[in-house]
Amino acid sequence: MKKWIALLLASAMVLSMAGCGSEPKESSQAEESSQAEESSQAEESSQAEESSQAEESSQAEESSQADSADADQGNAGESEVGEESSEDAPTASEPGSFTTAVEGKLTMATNAAFPPYEYVEGGEIAGIDAEIAAAIAGKLGLELLIDDMEFDSITEAVKSGKADLGLAGMTVTPDRQEEVDFTVSYATGVQVVIVTEDSAITSVDDLFAEGANHVVGVQRNTTGDIYTTDDIEDEGLGTIDRYSKGAEAVQALKTGKVDCVVIDNEPAKAFVAEVEGLKILETEYVTEDYAAAMSKDNKALYDAVNAALQELIADGTIQGIIDKYISAE
Ligand code: ARG
Repeated sequence: MKKWIALLLASAMVLSMAGCGSEPKESSQAEESSQAEESSQAEESSQAEESSQAEESSQAEESSQADSADADQGNAGESEVGEESSEDAPTASEPGSFTTAVEGKLTMATNAAFPPYEYVEGGEIAGIDAEIAAAIAGKLGLELLIDDMEFDSITEAVKSGKADLGLAGMTVTPDRQEEVDFTVSYATGVQVVIVTEDSAITSVDDLFAEGANHVVGVQRNTTGDIYTTDDIEDEGLGTIDRYSKGAEAVQALKTGKVDCVVIDNEPAKAFVAEVEGLKILETEYVTEDYAAAMSKDNKALYDAVNAALQELIADGTIQGIIDKYISAE
């Protein structure tokens, strides 16, 4: 409906301006409101999709949280001009400013079981992503707060506004892009296969060979899970065992419960270094881009974080952080 009006307005402007020979300006207000409508629709339908896929019982809880957070938004611009009222609403909207989940803080949702990107060390969350988030927070004048959770809860935390950004070695995928907006990519990941040293699996292609029947360990809802579900389970070439943490999948490999583990290369190296008798296959499964996941409903914060990250990439800060944790091969 609104799109119609926008179109009419735009074409009316083009017609009227054609006469005086100047370029029409975009009607940005009309555009914004039709976008807002679209994105709330998109959200609803993708939630419906998610819950039909649901494996876990916590889904219903999560989506009701998301709904109430959605309802809280969208009141900006309704306050009256005139007397200054002492509003307790957290939206201190100066032009160009942004709001965060907790005032003055940048809340990062992560799953700190993914070395060297994020892991717990001496009771603190350390790693590449934690340092990148701290650098972004520093640029924005915010204090970093880290919320450690299951990997498959991060997207929902970001969507609902409970967290400002998901930073978790998270791969940009088309499905996730329907749920969240990704910043520019700050690193590359590769899905690799971990096997026991004496394994009959010697290359990634063995997993897709005719008549193959392997049990593959993955961290639940990671791209390793998504790809192997498509390529192996759905093709009748084996089954997928999904674990809450990558390290648990690696333990299952060690004890013979799974035949291999598909996971990102850097954590794979870290896990293999800790557990004897395992190796990483030379052939790679998929190469992917890591980026921070953010809400589609907080454009001002997205722009600020994305700009900060771009500056940190341009001035070499990000590479410096990565080099501290990953030695060049
Ligand atoms: N890159 C993979 C993905 O996005 C795995 C990320 C897992 N991250 C974590 N912090 N556990 O699905």
